[in-house]
Amino acid sequence: MLSTYFAEHKERFLNELFDLLRIPSVSADSKFKPDMSRAAEFVKEKLTAAGLDKAGIHETPGHPVVYAEKIIDDSLPTVLVYGHYDVQPADPYELWNTPPFEPTIRNERIYARGSCDDKGQFYMHVKALEAMLATDGLPCNVKVMIEGEEEIGSDHLGKFVAENREMLKADVVLISDTSIIANDVPSIEAGLRGLSYVEVEVVGPNRDLHSGVYGGAVQNPLNVLCQLIASLHDEKGRITIPGFYDKVEELSAEERAALAEAPFDEEEYERDLGLKAVFGEEGYTSPERASIRPTLDVNGIWGGYIGEGAKTVLPGKAQAKISMRLVPNQDPDEITELFTKHFVAIAPPTVSVKVTPHHGGQPYVTPTDSVEFEAARRAFRESWGKDAIPTRGGGSIPIVALFEKELGIKSILMGFGLDIDALHSPNESYGLFNFYKGIETIPYFYKHYADLKKTVVDA
Ligand code: BES
Ligand code: MN
Ligand code: MN
Repeated sequence: MLSTYFAEHKERFLNELFDLLRIPSVSADSKFKPDMSRAAEFVKEKLTAAGLDKAGIHETPGHPVVYAEKIIDDSLPTVLVYGHYDVQPADPYELWNTPPFEPTIRNERIYARGSCDDKGQFYMHVKALEAMLATDGLPCNVKVMIEGEEEIGSDHLGKFVAENREMLKADVVLISDTSIIANDVPSIEAGLRGLSYVEVEVVGPNRDLHSGVYGGAVQNPLNVLCQLIASLHDEKGRITIPGFYDKVEELSAEERAALAEAPFDEEEYERDLGLKAVFGEEGYTSPERASIRPTLDVNGIWGGYIGEGAKTVLPGKAQAKISMRLVPNQDPDEITELFTKHFVAIAPPTVSVKVTPHHGGQPYVTPTDSVEFEAARRAFRESWGKDAIPTRGGGSIPIVALFEKELGIKSILMGFGLDIDALHSPNESYGLFNFYKGIETIPYFYKHYADLKKTVVDA
């Protein structure tokens, strides 16, 4: 019995996750390269221990991909589980109440970098598979691919998927790397935003200058950068880049009404984030602004003097990192090009500007009337005793659109995180409830997916 197995091995499941969380697998920082290999090795070992075959580490020009599979019967449908063992940098360390790579439990929550995003979530799959294989068996074939570059844009995974189409061949991708509305309001994300990320540089004089001797006579690149950035939104909160909205998919009134079914408390949202007031594009609600509408945000800006005290300086150069979240039909390469053209065009003749593209990702939507979405719905209904509400997520998982392109299959985003998990922030956490409930829900997906596929074939 699955439930008996869970009860008996609960403690060990958590201890293993803790071991994984102790490995600082930060993909963005080369100083953690050895930890990336350790984390990959750990995942490989646990997949083998869970009873999967062919567990192996596949090197890429970046961080390795871990793959394993269990093929029961070629006539059964195949589920491809995807997750990522890399995490975001933990900086600033001083804002953590307990060290980011020393997992700690407080208030029924696991505090550690990666606890929710995505170690805690993909590890639920490893344990659910272990439990299924140790008890009633698997009703589908399963392939598991856990990568190490999601948090830096999955740059080498596209090639890996394209080169290993046969190995990865499956009927559906199952991913736990998103959130639900609340523990008593389960939901399934039916879409993700895309991403275009650029770095801009505004160069003026050939060196930093005395702001008294030259100030007023030489245009300040940092002032220019601020003006340029400020001009990228109008007073209605819309982005001013020509052509930016041309391909944006506008949702029908029915679709918007369906999304509005999800409960949202604006005051609580403001309180939770310490906001004086919400903000955003005119004509849309906060949840819409953060999911079905595209955005442009400065992620960092620098130049001149930012050390202690005051230094009178007119900086020679100013820089910023800017991200644009994209919605269905917007193409990241096209948007990066529109941005670059516009940014160069609006720069005054006193400075030169440079735009360097970083990683991007295609937006994604999954139909809610498919067999696989129904399987996820039934899985939630069976383990949570409630219907899951379809939502649209604001985050990005760059590889998801690529799975569709390269493997021709849809992804089901069956994530179990919460907004309070503080992904990418100090004090990231994941609820013990969510960890265990996720492990319990996953086998139901397999059961219902196999049943539904069978019905489709029989009919
Ligand atoms: N798991 C997140 C994405 C996410 C979080 C989706 C919550 C929906 C709800 C993922 O690890 C992530 O952070 N993605 C990055 C992508 C980027 C680094 C290319 C993001 O969205 O910023
Ligand atoms: Mn993630
Ligand atoms: Mn992330």
